[in-house]
Amino acid sequence: MHTIQELQQIIDKAVKETAYPATPKELYEPISYLMSLGGKRLRPALVLMATDLFGGAIEDAISPALAVELFHNFTLMHDDIMDKAPLRRGKPTVHAKWNEAVAILSGDVMFVKAYQMMIQVKPDILSSVLAIFNETAIGVCEGQQIDMNFECRAQVGIPEYLEMIKLKTAVLLGGALKIGALIGNASEKDAQNLYDFGVNLGIAFQLQDDILDVYGDPEKFGKQVGGDIISNKKTFLLIKALELAKGAKADELNHWLNLKTFDSKEKVKSVTAIYDSLGIRQLSEELMNDFADKAYQALDSIHLPETQKQTLNDFATLLVDREH
Ligand code: IPE
Ligand code: IPE
Ligand code: MG
Ligand code: MG
Ligand code: MG
Repeated sequence: MHTIQELQQIIDKAVKETAYPATPKELYEPISYLMSLGGKRLRPALVLMATDLFGGAIEDAISPALAVELFHNFTLMHDDIMDKAPLRRGKPTVHAKWNEAVAILSGDVMFVKAYQMMIQVKPDILSSVLAIFNETAIGVCEGQQIDMNFECRAQVGIPEYLEMIKLKTAVLLGGALKIGALIGNASEKDAQNLYDFGVNLGIAFQLQDDILDVYGDPEKFGKQVGGDIISNKKTFLLIKALELAKGAKADELNHWLNLKTFDSKEKVKSVTAIYDSLGIRQLSEELMNDFADKAYQALDSIHLPETQKQTLNDFATLLVDREH
């Protein structure tokens, strides 16, 4: 088994060695820009870890791992347009640095390049791998649309929210692991258990993302703190606050949600104060821990020695404890 650090080094090297054509530079520069800003490289690490877990050759998993990272970065490039986000990984977003048209087209070509990388898997697993990748990509788009629909809806239930984050975020973690497992020749049952581990971990991961969006340290987070509050994102934090706030507090929260023009800083500060008074952070962390526990349980049912599963377990712990 490789360590997490070893796998991340392999990915970083592979990312650095990937070259893009020089022209048209508006199409390709944003790809190099975004990919070189780093990020946690979590999803490609999951592909490699899953392959490694079942005794497969890491070399066979590098292109598919890069495919998953390219796909992820493509979704971020477009997500930042949709979320009107100014910052990504501590630097200006692609649409802010260039413009929206550039971010759309550059993202499109990344999506195609992701498929070019993915089809480099061995022919005997190609159709299964593509089926997972296709289903994942469609899931992410569905989740992203539902996320935007919820911005304009007054009431969103917790189950609907969980289904939305499962689609926009968690299925990609599950898909990355399942693809890695197939490359490692895992049984269908083990690959499915690993997928379930990834989906539950992914839900915990998005809950932590939503918590950090409000409570993250701006120096470490790398994104605009309070972005979700500014755009009325129906995160678990907001849904829970809407459920718990009563009387004047409920009126104040609804007042901020209904305002068409406002001072962003003031809105973020006021809504955060309401969250604080309702203990929303702790409730969110409890739910996140519940999903992390579900992930650990799915890992328990996989037929491999404990020591081998430890790397995945450690990685999962890192992800829910993170600061960015
Ligand atoms: C950001 O993903 C998008 C979410 C699903 C929350 P990451 O937090 O993995 O972003 P990077 O790749 O590390 O920057
Ligand atoms: C995005 O969720 C998930 C995808 C990009 C598919 P967010 O919108 O919360 O991600 P961040 O916070 O911008 O990274
Ligand atoms: Mg978004
Ligand atoms: Mg976003
Ligand atoms: Mg977010």
